[in-house]
Amino acid sequence: VTIPPANRRPDFDITRASHVALAVRDLAASVDFYTQVLGLVLSDREGGTAYLRGVEEVCHHSLTLTEAAGAPACLRTGLRLADEDEVDRAAAFFRARGLPVEEVRLPFCGRALHASDPDGTPLELVARMETRPRAYGDVASHRGAPALRFDHFQILVPDPEATARFYAELGFRTSDYIQDDASGEVIGFFMFRKDNPHDLVFFRRPGPVLHHFGYFVSEPSHIFRACDIAGQMGFGEGVERGPGRHGLGHSLFVYLRDPDGHRVELLPPAVQMIDREEEPVRWSASNGFSSIAWGLPAQRRWFEEVTPYQGVGTRAPAKAGSPMTLERYLQERA
Ligand SMILES: [Fe+2]
Repeated sequence: VTIPPANRRPDFDITRASHVALAVRDLAASVDFYTQVLGLVLSDREGGTAYLRGVEEVCHHSLTLTEAAGAPACLRTGLRLADEDEVDRAAAFFRARGLPVEEVRLPFCGRALHASDPDGTPLELVARMETRPRAYGDVASHRGAPALRFDHFQILVPDPEATARFYAELGFRTSDYIQDDASGEVIGFFMFRKDNPHDLVFFRRPGPVLHHFGYFVSEPSHIFRACDIAGQMGFGEGVERGPGRHGLGHSLFVYLRDPDGHRVELLPPAVQMIDREEEPVRWSASNGFSSIAWGLPAQRRWFEEVTPYQGVGTRAPAKAGSPMTLERYLQERA
C-alpha cells in the first residue's frame, strides 16, 4: 500500500478543520441542543443563523446553524487558512484544477473562499475570524459537556484513495488507515494538518456526505454529563453509539444525533502528532474491531444514516462494503 505522502510545500497553507455550517429545520430547537447538551457558547444570532463556539475557542464560531425549510443538510466543511495572504494562492489552486471557487463575504470573517474538492464536498476556507473572550474560565456559565473546541470531520466518499491524494497535495498527513485484508484496498484515511491525528477522516461509502463532526471535551465525565442532559431533554434515543472506546487512538467517544439527525461526536483531546518520522499506522478492516477497543459494534443506522451536503449529488463506490453492524453481529451469534 502506498499512503500518499504529504506535500511539505503545498501551494497554500491550511492550518486545520475549523467549523461546520449546518441547515436546520428549527433554529431554536437546535440552539437549545447545542448550548444545553454540548454546552457551546452562542456568539451571535442574526439573519436566521446562530453562530456558536466551544468554551475554549477564541474565534467567533465553529458551528453555524441556519434555519431552512426542507431536508436538513450540511452547507459547508470549514477549513482555516494560515492568513489572508493565502486566499489568492488557494483560489489559484482550485482554478488551475477546474474546481469551483469564489471569494465570499461572510459575517464575522475576514477574506474567505467557497470552493469544492474533486468529490464535490463544499468547502469554506476562512483566513480570519473576529475573536471573542475564551469562556473556559467563566466556569459558572458553563452548561452541558461543556465542549472545548471543534476537532474534526468524518466524510464518506466513494474513492477514499483518490480523496487522500488530493488532500495530501494540500499538505495533509495520514496518521492512520484502515485496510481491507483481502483486497489490500484502503477504505479509511485519518488525515491532519494540526497537531493531532484527525482534521479530515474519509471512509469508503456512497458520498460525498457528512458522517459526523467531533468536538473535544476535557474529561470523560463530561461525556456522561452530555448524555445525561440529552436524556433529560428527550434526546435519549439520539445517544446513538457509546459511550465507548475506539481501538484507533484509544479514544473514549460518544456519538449523539441532534434534533435534525446531524451526528456529533464528543471525545477527550487526542494524542499529539507533530514529528515527521511517525509512519501511518495500519488497522485491519476485517475483524470489525479496529474502531472499538471493547463493547459491541455500532448499530446499522450509525453506518447508514448521514447528512447530505446541500445540492451535492453522490456517487457509490466501485465496491460496496459490509460493515460489522450490531444487527449483523447479533444475528451471526444467535
Ligand atoms: Fe470522529
